[in-house]
Amino acid sequence: MVKIIGIVGSPRSNGNTENLVKEALQSAKDAGAEIELIKLGNAEIEPCIACDICKATGECAIYDDMGGILEKIRESHGLIIGSPVYFGSVTSQLKMLIDRSRPLRMDFKLKNKVGGAIAVGGSRNGGQETTISTIHDFLLIHDVIIVGDGAPLAHYGGTGVGSAKEASESDEVGLQTSRNLGKRVAELAMKINEN
Ligand SMILES: Cc1cc2nc3c(=O)[nH]c(=O)nc-3n(C[C@H](O)[C@H](O)[C@H](O)COP(=O)(O)O)c2cc1C
Repeated sequence: MVKIIGIVGSPRSNGNTENLVKEALQSAKDAGAEIELIKLGNAEIEPCIACDICKATGECAIYDDMGGILEKIRESHGLIIGSPVYFGSVTSQLKMLIDRSRPLRMDFKLKNKVGGAIAVGGSRNGGQETTISTIHDFLLIHDVIIVGDGAPLAHYGGTGVGSAKEASESDEVGLQTSRNLGKRVAELAMKINEN
């Protein structure tokens, strides 16, 4: 069975990003995948210090929660990465994960996994697409296969609008694009790993 990991880049628990990532994961589960949620708001993650030890050894020299998170990502078949829009981009919590993921790139351990992105902003055009683009850059640079939310909408992934924590619960486009993204990630991961 394929395993799909959902990553919540928000520091807020039970907020809009968590809600939409959970919707996407439920949809991946309905399509036949095993799922797991990782919340960066609960994690101790230090920023990358550019010591380059990962270039020499493939291991990170910082010992915090990233070790366990990288291991889960490495063992997965697909990733759904969600972030609130902060000044048109991802949160610092997610950016720390992105930079600290460098050990996995040393011999392209994420190659041919499937990935997709979700972004939630307080405004309708508050930077959801630029935030998703940053997540897509991360996935591309790891040689992950990127999917969007598929037909019938078929755009960049999950795009939500809402400020108050529970706002995304009534955001039909955010919910639907996130569900569609979860299905796409799971279906392609199953296709790639079917043998
Ligand atoms: C520091 C900060 C910066 C933000 N910048 C933006 C922004 O550029 N565009 C936008 O639409 N919303 C912005 N917001 C609003 C959040 O994206 C929005 O409240 C989102 O729903 C939060 O997601 P969460 O509920 O998962 O924490 C910002 C919020 C914070 C705290």
